[in-house]
Amino acid sequence: MSNNQLFAKKSLKGLLDEMAGDNRLKRVLGPVALTSLGVGAVIGAGIFVATGSAAHNVAGPALMLSYVVAGLTCIFAALCYAEFASMAPVAGSAYTYAYTTMGELFAWIIGWDLVLEYAVGAATVANGWSGYFQSVLAKFDIHFPAFCNQAAVIYKDGAFVATGSWFNLPAVAVTILVTLVLVKGISESANFNALMVALKVVAVLFVIMVGAFYVHPENWTPFAPYGWTGLSFFGIPVMGQTNQGGEPVGMLAGAAIIFFAYIGFDSVSTHAEEAKNPQRDVPIAIMASLAICTVLYVAVVAVLTGMVKYDQIDANAGVSSAFKTAGLPWAEFIIAAAGVAGITSVLLVMMLSAPRVFLAMARDGLVPKKFFSDVHPKFQTPWKSTLLIGAFVSVLAGFLPIDALLHLTNIGTLFAFVIVCAAVLIMRKTNPDAERPFRCPLVPLIPLLGIGACLMLMFSLPAANWWRLIAWLALGLVIYFCYGRHHSVLGKELREAP
Ligand code: ALA
Repeated sequence: MSNNQLFAKKSLKGLLDEMAGDNRLKRVLGPVALTSLGVGAVIGAGIFVATGSAAHNVAGPALMLSYVVAGLTCIFAALCYAEFASMAPVAGSAYTYAYTTMGELFAWIIGWDLVLEYAVGAATVANGWSGYFQSVLAKFDIHFPAFCNQAAVIYKDGAFVATGSWFNLPAVAVTILVTLVLVKGISESANFNALMVALKVVAVLFVIMVGAFYVHPENWTPFAPYGWTGLSFFGIPVMGQTNQGGEPVGMLAGAAIIFFAYIGFDSVSTHAEEAKNPQRDVPIAIMASLAICTVLYVAVVAVLTGMVKYDQIDANAGVSSAFKTAGLPWAEFIIAAAGVAGITSVLLVMMLSAPRVFLAMARDGLVPKKFFSDVHPKFQTPWKSTLLIGAFVSVLAGFLPIDALLHLTNIGTLFAFVIVCAAVLIMRKTNPDAERPFRCPLVPLIPLLGIGACLMLMFSLPAANWWRLIAWLALGLVIYFCYGRHHSVLGKELREAP
């Protein structure tokens, strides 16, 4: 078989023709529904759970700026996503973009990486959900037994340590529930999502508006107790301080961790195929959801670090506990309850996205078609892969701890963003005249800034994550060379061509 197949590209025209074919998903989503999906995917465990520990352990009040850095990084990547999403509004997102610009091998790598992002991300979120859910139940003096109330291991000072619990039952239960909702269908899911999104936006506004009255500006000094940087290169500190485990701390290191809070806006582009007017609405929805979230996040962190001195913030449930500390236990309850609802909608969108990436890969023959592109005759959803992803996420969420899952999701997503930014640059060269209903401004500056910022954040994560990412990608390559390469639709066309 020729090596050319590895770099064979799908043509943009072929892609657009495909969109007219059979077996497509229903076009039911308008701009508000898409933005709502975006915000639904974005605001979740990141702001509600990870912020507390990042402020306490990694950045202090300077976490406000960490959110600005991570938000800017996402805006660069979002502009690139939006250009592609408007050019080729089909399911598959970065995977499809890579297939048309960099060829089949890269497309496979990125598709496989996206599955990691969405599945491991969903497990992270299910884990965060479990923590908030249990804190709500605790108000009624209801407690899960110790053998099933948390992951089987935690990650401490560079090693996994047994917790004594067998598995995280609430995390597994919510994953199964969401899987069943998804098998039933996108319309119902979008309505359910809209309700959850409304609830959590109200919760976040409540935190900002009520919390603002309890801010003590002296808590913002020192502003950057861990410094402004926190960069390391494969575990070797390059700039700034490290903690006792040798991991980077500081404002930039904080940005690498809370980057998680922004993940999800890209899933809007995986729904392009279900959008009524994708060329116009997908870019709008991506940018709108990102802008809304950045403003809300910075405000939440300002309030949180203003209410409680950074070194006294509760590392597990910072946002809700701050209100308890301020003498407002009823507010703590409202936030925790809304947090549960809000985090559920993130789980929903993440688990909605993973099967759609597989669907796009199956149409190209890279994973078994019968299984992954089987759209349910009644519900019109990719139900088999939804069930498979649900099972995978349940296992991860049941046994692994939130921080290890979170770091892995971040590095996988940053990697996908690097590829998307690079793909925009390539596409401008290879298809300069293609119709671009939305054009990323200031090319090549914005894509280059996107690539640089994502790489910087990747290097600011603890080194173990690089090895985990590489191991996942290596597993993917084995599957590609054993299956995908031989069944690829494009590969067959190449072989049959005279
Ligand atoms: N951005 C999503 C969250 O914070 C993944 O939960």
